This record gives sequence, structure tokens and C-alpha cells, in this order.
Amino acid sequence: MNAIESVLIENRVFAPNAVAAAAARISGMSAYDALCAEAERDFEGFWERLARANLVWSKPFTKVLDESNAPFYKWFEDGELNASANCLDKHMGTPVEHKTAVIFEADDGAVTRTSYRELLSRVSQFANALLADGIGKGDRVLIYMPMTLEGVIAMQACARIGATHSVVFGGFSAKALHERIIDAGAVAVITANYQRRGGRELPLKAIVDEGLAMGGCETIKTVFVYQRTANPCNMVAGRDKTFAEALAGQSDNCPALAVGAEHPLFVLYTSGSTGKPKGVQHSTGGYLLWAKLTMDWTFDLQPSDVFWCTADIGWITGHSYVAYGPLAAGATQIIYEGVPTFPNAGRFWQMIERHQCTIFYTAPTAIRSLIKAAESDANVHPARSNLGSLRILGSVGEPINPEAWMWYYRNVGGERCPIVDTFWQTETGGHMITPLPGATPLVPGSCTLPLPGIMAAIVDEAGHDIANGTGGLLVVKRPWPSMIRTIWNDPERFKKAYFPTEMGGKLYLAGDGAVRSADRGYFRITGRIDDVLNVSGHRLGTMEIESALVSHTVLVAEAAVVGRPDDLTGEAVCAFVVLKGARPTGDAAAAMAKELRDWVAKEIGPLAKPKDIRFAENLPKTRSGKIMRRLLRSVAKGEAVTQDTSTLENPAILDQLGQAW
Ligand code: PRX
Repeated sequence: MNAIESVLIENRVFAPNAVAAAAARISGMSAYDALCAEAERDFEGFWERLARANLVWSKPFTKVLDESNAPFYKWFEDGELNASANCLDKHMGTPVEHKTAVIFEADDGAVTRTSYRELLSRVSQFANALLADGIGKGDRVLIYMPMTLEGVIAMQACARIGATHSVVFGGFSAKALHERIIDAGAVAVITANYQRRGGRELPLKAIVDEGLAMGGCETIKTVFVYQRTANPCNMVAGRDKTFAEALAGQSDNCPALAVGAEHPLFVLYTSGSTGKPKGVQHSTGGYLLWAKLTMDWTFDLQPSDVFWCTADIGWITGHSYVAYGPLAAGATQIIYEGVPTFPNAGRFWQMIERHQCTIFYTAPTAIRSLIKAAESDANVHPARSNLGSLRILGSVGEPINPEAWMWYYRNVGGERCPIVDTFWQTETGGHMITPLPGATPLVPGSCTLPLPGIMAAIVDEAGHDIANGTGGLLVVKRPWPSMIRTIWNDPERFKKAYFPTEMGGKLYLAGDGAVRSADRGYFRITGRIDDVLNVSGHRLGTMEIESALVSHTVLVAEAAVVGRPDDLTGEAVCAFVVLKGARPTGDAAAAMAKELRDWVAKEIGPLAKPKDIRFAENLPKTRSGKIMRRLLRSVAKGEAVTQDTSTLENPAILDQLGQAW
């Protein structure tokens, strides 16, 4: 994608609803400006005030920010706290204790409600089961779970005893799981026999077994298995324990272990521009502060709200806005096991009505696919459900196109709910640039302005500020509490990837292009500037997919992967493949493409399957042998190649690549 593209002309502005704004936590732009001014005036004092007010500290911190070893910043370092205690224990004895923490709706529609009190008991009991197994502070625990309450309990239980969790999305392959177990040096896996999605049962434990059988996972001592369905799964004696076995006889009282604020709460793997996924390491104190505070600020959380973030716990959104933020903020939240289209594409709207959801947070891809379904079947249109409970809508994970924004605003939000288009990343821990529902005038397709304390800017390649109206690189000029601390096992890569020396080594480089509007200074994200794709809001590295393709050593000689715009998924994966044998055509090409797509699914996961595979006898290369990706991007889009091809070694190849079989 050409990230630094022309400025979007978008003149529509939607002012916040005056009545709602008056009651909001951040009410009006003057309140927003005052917070920003406070952060400008006294940066450390600002964060200190918020950290003391929003977290319960077992040992209060005396230092706010340590920049002595930048970019390895430390926040609140000598303070001690526990993340789970800040999500659960702190509510005991308050009106939140008996409030519903989680409304869980299963794939088949069964609903269960769990109060904060009950959740604390269940987390404590599970934490005791982990302790009884010899798991303790600093140990890494890999979580590969369905989207159920038990997944959140597993994460909270790890946090409770100071173990560092690493959640892997249930759609990743055995190989991806294996890589992450080894990189993290995990001592245990928490999984389920099966996951239920869209009326089907999909294996999880079998994939764990396959991953562990790949070798090198000797660090794993125990596999905990949640029996989500009645179907039996393979259990290895001496290694595998069902939840029932692990929990038997465990007390539901487990004091939370206070850890240092910088103690790694979790490592979450995400794709970068080189082959190997990066283990993004987050802290306990700074991370949790921002998860809690952005619940209050971005979602204007009120005690009566019913919050629903549709993200899976396998992604950062499911960490910050399912497993931690809503609980730390004392919210009632909905957790949904299944997919938006089962049993029909009206499921989300029906669930909003059923549970009287007030704040709904989802991804543009989901919205686009539900628009498509609603426009062709009135029965699944949001108008069929009473969505009057909604007051705030959110969007996350990829740019939302103005058409989808308008549809969401009108048909879901009834033109009364502000849309918070939240820009952020796995690395940022929480929201960075987003409207505030009671303050910011909205412009479709724009994530508007940085949150107070977030010093976002747009610069050129040397790190110099760029004028509004001109595209450039999105950076953050000062550290913030929930930022990535390092890449697990790879501090050098952390420095290089996020704090490039060419830009002075002090600016956090997000990896996105952005432009600020000339009039309001609003940010609009134009897409990644590196070899990272965003397919349905899922982050994928082109190199990762290329490595997966060429690892099919029997068939594939060479492969190059690029993204191309896609109406539904935002971007689609397009692979150019040179086979070892002859270039296939017709049915043979279709069969070969299927085989390679399945291969990628096996290597990485179904989410990485190329939508489009083109076969050629060679790839377009410069005389020095570099693949000309720019050209491939044009070819993938079906555009005429207008770039300079004078350095191209083999121009005839372009015709072949342009032909779909
Ligand atoms: O390109 C940006 C896009 O998603 C990337 C981060 O992906 P990930 O780490 O998986 O986190 C996704 C959930 C926070 C960013 O670099 N992105 C995320 N939110 C937006 C966005 N692009 C445009 N608008 C957004 N609101």
C-alpha cells in the first residue's frame, strides 16, 4: 500500500451530542485541552497524578519515569502492585463486588452471568492450581484458548501469581504455536479440547499436541485442558490435566502477589517486517494504568454501562479491552464466543438488544461484512433490532473508510452515538489517537487527536516535523506508560525497529503513514509504511508469508508477497510464486494455488492464506537481483505499471504476472 497518499477531502463534521457531552467524564474540547496542557506543562506530574488515582499500589512508587537507559524506559519502577488485584480485589466491599462482571454468550446462545465476587473466586482458584503445579513469578505460560470466560480467568490467574502470559490466537497453526512456545520458553500451556465457532467444533488441544511434538519444547511441564465440549481429546499421562483435575481441592482464596511495576505482565507476539514474529513485552503498572484510563476516557465509562468489545483475547484489543481494562474499570462487559455471522449476520445487533449493550467496539472488517449482509437481507439489518441502548460506538484495528463509518453511524448508532475511531497498536498497549465521545467533533475516517499525554506527531524520514496537510511518518515524541518495553529475547531488534538512529533514536516510530488535516490538525492514518499487511484487522508480515511459501521446498522456488486493497478485508494477501516445475495454467494453476493456500494455513494459520496467487517463470528484479515490490504492488492492484522499469532485468515477466489464470 502506498501509505503516503493524497489528503482525503472529507468535509462532514459531527459535533458531540450536547446533552451526552455535558455528562461526560471529559466534557467538551476545553476539558480535553486542559488535560493536554497539564501534560505539556508537567509531563511527569501528569502521569504521577493519574497513576496514583487509578491504580491500587501495594507499595507506592517514588520515581515516575526513568529515561536513563532510553529507549528502555521505566515507569513507576519502584512501585509494586498486582494487575489481578487491580481488576478484582479492589472492587470487594464496593458496590461493584456484586455487579455482573461478565455476561458470557456462548456460540449456541446460552448466556451466563458472573459477578466480580464470583470472578475473583474463580481466578483465585485457578491461580492456586497454577501454584500447585509449581508455576510461579516470572514463568511464562502460553494460553491457547477459545473466546470464553475461562480464557480471561487463565490470564488473570497468571497475573495474580506474577506469571507472564503469552496468549496465542486460536486461529494460529501448530507451527506458529511451536515457534512461540520456544521463543517464550513457556513452562505450561493452557488450552481447551475444542473451540466452538459458528456451530462447529474446532480442535485446539490436537494442535497443541502437534506443536509440542515438533520438538524443542522440553520447557513445557504441564498442559491444562479446559473441556469446552463433550468430545474427548487425547490426554498425555503425566503432562496433561483437565481443568477439573487441576482445580479439584484448590481453595478459592489466593492472595495476589505484588510485583514491581515493570514486571512483564505479558508477551504478545505480533508480525513485523522481517520473518519472525516479535514478542511484544508489556509491563504491569504502566500497561494497566492506560487500559483502565482509556476505558474511562475513550469510552466515557459510567457505572451503568454494558460494554462489548468483540475482539478475541488472542489480540492486543482483547487484552486491553476484554481481559484487563473493563475489569480494572469495574464495568459490566459482554464476552461472545462465536462469529458475527452465526446463526445469521444479525447476531451482533440481536446481542446488543438482548444484553442492552451501551458501548460497542468492533473492527471495520466486521462492519463491512455486516453491511454487505444487511444490504442483501433485511432480516439481518440492524433496523430489525432495537439498538436504543447504545450510546457510544468504537472502531479499531484498521482504517475505517468513510462509507462504512457513515453506515455504522446511521444504522447502528442511530445518528446519536459518537464513533471513537481508535488508532493504536500491539506495541502501544492502549489507545493513542482517538476522538473523545463527549468532546471531539467527528470526521469520518479520521482518528482525530492524540489522547492527553500522548505526544504524537508526523515527521519526515530524518525525524523533522512536517506541516499539516502533508503526509509523513507517524511518531510519538515522548514515552508513555503503556508502551512496549522490549521485544522478548531481542532488545536490539526493539531499538532498531522502533527507535531508528536515522531519526535521532528518541522518536517512537509507529510504522504507519499519516497526515494531519490542514484545518483541524486531525490525524488520518494512511496505512503501514513497512512490509506489514493488515488483513481484516489482522496483522501479517509479508516476509512471514513468503517464508511459509518457500518452505514448501518441493514445489516453490521463489515467492514474493504484497498487499492489495480489498473492499471487505481492507487489504488482501497477493502472492507471486515461481514454481520449481513449469508455470501452471488453467485448472492445474487453480489446483496448485489451492495446495499452496492450504500450505500457508498449515504453516501460519488460515488468516494468512493468500487470496490471490499468481504464477510466473520469474519475479521482476533489478539487475542487482532485488525483487521490485513496487511493481508487484501495481500488478496486484491490476494497475498499468507506470513506474520506471529501466532497471528491470526481465521486463517480459510483467505480462505473465498480470495474467490471472
Ligand atoms: O496500521 C495500523 C492499524 O493496525 C496496526 C496495528 O495492528 P495491531 O498491532 O495488530 O493492533 C491492532 C489493534 C490495536 C497499526 O499500525 N490500525 C489500528 N487501528 C487503526 C489502524 N489504522 C487506522 N485506523 C485505526 N483506528
